[in-house]
Amino acid sequence: MFDAEKFIEKTVDQLQEKIKGKALIAFSGGVDSTVCAALVNNAIGDRLIAVHVDTGYMRKNESIDVKKMMEELGLNYRFIDASKEFYASLKNVEDPEEKRKIIGEKFIRLFEKTAKEEGIEYLVQGTIAPDWIESGDELRDTIKSHHNVGGLPEDIAVKLVEPLRDLYKDEVRKVARVLKLPVSERQPFPGPGLAIRIIGEATPKRTEVIREACYIVEKEIENAVKQGIIEKPWQYFAVLIPVKTVGVQGDKRVYGYTIAIRAVQSVDAMTCKYSHIPHEVLDNISIKIANALGNEINRIVYDVTNKPPGTVEWE
Ligand code: XMP
Repeated sequence: MFDAEKFIEKTVDQLQEKIKGKALIAFSGGVDSTVCAALVNNAIGDRLIAVHVDTGYMRKNESIDVKKMMEELGLNYRFIDASKEFYASLKNVEDPEEKRKIIGEKFIRLFEKTAKEEGIEYLVQGTIAPDWIESGDELRDTIKSHHNVGGLPEDIAVKLVEPLRDLYKDEVRKVARVLKLPVSERQPFPGPGLAIRIIGEATPKRTEVIREACYIVEKEIENAVKQGIIEKPWQYFAVLIPVKTVGVQGDKRVYGYTIAIRAVQSVDAMTCKYSHIPHEVLDNISIKIANALGNEINRIVYDVTNKPPGTVEWE
């Protein structure tokens, strides 16, 4: 049985012992990085600098909300808007692993730059067990390179601190609850963000489409949870499939992209089952997406794939 209180006590002590100078944390505002930031902040206070990067691949209003949260948590923070840079670096890139590596490397380089400016020696990361297990090693296959592991350059000039390395997601949530963090029940969101929810090239225009589609899926599912129609899925989002199919709008032929809706149940993300979302909820999502994105999207499908054989994300 995982004892969150003991974990917190032990980890804060170890962090105090280990981190002698200034540390930097990549703060996405998700459960993992928020728990990490809170633990390290407890251990070393203002010597921790939280850096949030708006990559342009964040969800609707996400970076603004993250900024607010960093203020509320009393963190010493920096906010970097790097969206133009990220979009440029993914121009013409279609391969999922290449996307992940480019994004991972970009993140690290940005953090390295801040680290140099601030005289930082330690980089804190919210890596959890499934991240490094699935990123492969001499014992295991690479399923996909989670951006905070596989994208790490070999010549990195700061020391890595990964306080959650041995934890699974449900354990991280337990720690978040004990620390009373507002993110304890948030669904996971991958480091590479919406870039891996667009199959193929993640252009700024496609990103706007998937951002809105993800927003609609999240809102409608959360509404259904509130009304007691469904249990909260582990994760729920949209995927943009830039394959054109024929549709009709009014009396006009349209030729647009497809959105896949994905909702899954899982315990630790190592396996998952697709959620049995009732048709009334899927209807609402379908209609809202068609109304909001009818110029680009004319087909909406529901993904009924478990993991294995699929993975949670499509890339
Ligand atoms: P997959 O798609 O591998 O996802 O079945 C398992 C869980 O991990 C999340 N995920 C990531 N998280 N960096 C992250 O921090 C990543 O590169 C990454 N890729 C996938 C995914 O959303 C799911 O919760």
